[in-house]
Amino acid sequence: MIVGIITISDRASQGIYEDLGGPALRSAATGYAWQVQAEVIVPDDLLAIQQAVLSLSAQGCGLILTTGGTGIAERDLTPEAIRGIMRVEIPGFGEVMRMKSLEITPNAILSRSLAAVVQRSLVIALPGKPQGAVECLSFVLGAIPHAVKLAQKVPTSC
Ligand code: MTE
Repeated sequence: MIVGIITISDRASQGIYEDLGGPALRSAATGYAWQVQAEVIVPDDLLAIQQAVLSLSAQGCGLILTTGGTGIAERDLTPEAIRGIMRVEIPGFGEVMRMKSLEITPNAILSRSLAAVVQRSLVIALPGKPQGAVECLSFVLGAIPHAVKLAQKVPTSC
């Protein structure tokens, strides 16, 4: 599995605070024996998010993980950015991430986390809290290999 990781945060992109979400996802991905090909940090900006996703997809990342910008603050634009370039959304990912996360924190309901197919990549938009991002990824882990193969149009059976 070739993976790209995007941290979406105004403050982390300006160096105001250290990016902890990207490294947390890198460590989780490495633990799943995935190969992390690229890691980027972008501000909460629609075009910057879309460019980063399309660039990692063009670089061959079958799976693109984003962290941050899924909430309801004014600058939380990650779902809108992904929906603007996706071919299809996969609602079950967001449903499961919220349902399972609600067992941990009532604030999970505030995340508009989602998954979608963009070009030939599976994009999963995870919450910004490092632990929340890693938890949410673990909740949908089982469906990722098959979804990535389908996104890449690799012949596969269920
Ligand atoms: N989901 C899990 N599993 N763990 C968390 O700590 N934080 C919640 C939610 N989902 C959280 C979670 C909070 S506090 C917010 S505001 C939303 O994700 C949106 O976060 P984001 O805007 O940083 O993406």
